[in-house]
Amino acid sequence: MGMEKLYLENIIDHFKHPRNYGVVENADIQHHDHNPLCGDDISITIKIDRGKISDVKFQGHGCAISQASASMLTEKIKGKNIGDVKGIKSDDVIKLLGIPLSPLRMKCALLGFQVMTAGISKHKYGLREHGI
Ligand code: FES
Repeated sequence: MGMEKLYLENIIDHFKHPRNYGVVENADIQHHDHNPLCGDDISITIKIDRGKISDVKFQGHGCAISQASASMLTEKIKGKNIGDVKGIKSDDVIKLLGIPLSPLRMKCALLGFQVMTAGISKHKYGLREHGI
């Protein structure tokens, strides 16, 4: 079986059986956004404990790429230090999917990542507001 087929099967598996799907109770971070081109959307909730992402969940609806990518991203960041998560780049998310993507599909692939990064930066400013 070719590598691309394996990656495709993995995408379909994440789409059909999304990991970390739902809402984290008493989340420290919550953010929602949509892809303006199609209206597909993703919400992410994150709990932070001593600088680590102790829990993360996502919810949303949309194409297989956007939902699978968000599912994979939650697996990647769960348990990680917030500083390490801030170091994740869009290319790292594209690599998780492992298939060639058109520019339009790139927006699908990065929707969850954009929601996560916006949520985390909002949190950072929230801490600053509280003088932390
Ligand atoms: Fe809407 Fe992919 S077609 S996010």
